[in-house]
Amino acid sequence: MTEAWRPDDEDERRGAIGPVKVRVPAKVNLHLGVGPLRRDGYHELNTVYHAISIYDELTARRGDTLALTMEGEGTGELALDDSNLVIRAAHALAGYAGVLPHARLHLRKQIPLAGGLAGGSADAAAALVACDALWGTGLSRDELAGIAADLGSDVPFLIYGGTALGTGRGEAVSPVLARATSWHWVVAIADGGLSTPAAYRELDRLRDSGAAGAPLGSTDALLGALRQRDPRVLAGTLGNDLQDAALAMRPALADTLKAGEAAGALTGIVSGSGPTCVFLAADAADAERIAAELTSAGVCREARVAHGPVVGARVG
Ligand code: C5P
Repeated sequence: MTEAWRPDDEDERRGAIGPVKVRVPAKVNLHLGVGPLRRDGYHELNTVYHAISIYDELTARRGDTLALTMEGEGTGELALDDSNLVIRAAHALAGYAGVLPHARLHLRKQIPLAGGLAGGSADAAAALVACDALWGTGLSRDELAGIAADLGSDVPFLIYGGTALGTGRGEAVSPVLARATSWHWVVAIADGGLSTPAAYRELDRLRDSGAAGAPLGSTDALLGALRQRDPRVLAGTLGNDLQDAALAMRPALADTLKAGEAAGALTGIVSGSGPTCVFLAADAADAERIAAELTSAGVCREARVAHGPVVGARVG
């Protein structure tokens, strides 16, 4: 599974194309409105995605087969075989473009596994962009997003990045008009992940038993807040229908949310299906201070600062 990483490959010495390095961000959902369960097992979503500056990096080199190695978050836990979304993405692109799926891929992960930050989806998006460049298949971003939709609901967004509205099961994305402002976030990473399907099932169970909170309304207030520069206004508009489910599955997250707000965050929410919590800070200095307080309070494995929006999967 962990074949040796050979940086100076014969192909490269001969001047053949490669390596191609792609950086891809994590995402948070500023609004995650979950509708009813559909017949295909997915829920209808009304969400606003936001790409933040925590990155995975995928390097693609020429090879005689398709192979994946990795380092960083999740090493030793994440299967590197055909079940891995990176390998599935490479196969999907090769099938679409009619080329052989040959590449040596190396993943440097900083986005935690099963954290609610779409790390696996980000890696799939990176694989599409990297292999497209390595193989010279020259697909447009929209074509890559079309392939991405079959790999996972969040994958198309990570091809584009920025801030975008997601509908359908989340795979239909359109950019959101926003001011050219950077928002400052603190990302509290928990020990261990949460299963996304389990979080959706828990939400269904809470709703069936009448224990769920009222579903989020429209995204209008959030979209308005994104057109101005005051983080206090934005703070009042964030929301996540999966938060109650994540809290029911991991009650300790309530302490993390409380600690962030006590440390001066404008607001905190669970990211996606959790267990990562994200906090909006007034500015970069505040974000640093809140991250340090969260770390010393012992309410998370690690707290990192990030800003957003940032672009999606890009070569370079
Ligand atoms: O699309 P993706 O493979 O990332 O989804 C993982 C799981 O999350 C799905 O199998 C489903 O259980 C749940 N999900 C959902 N509704 C969505 C997106 C995901 O129920 N819109």
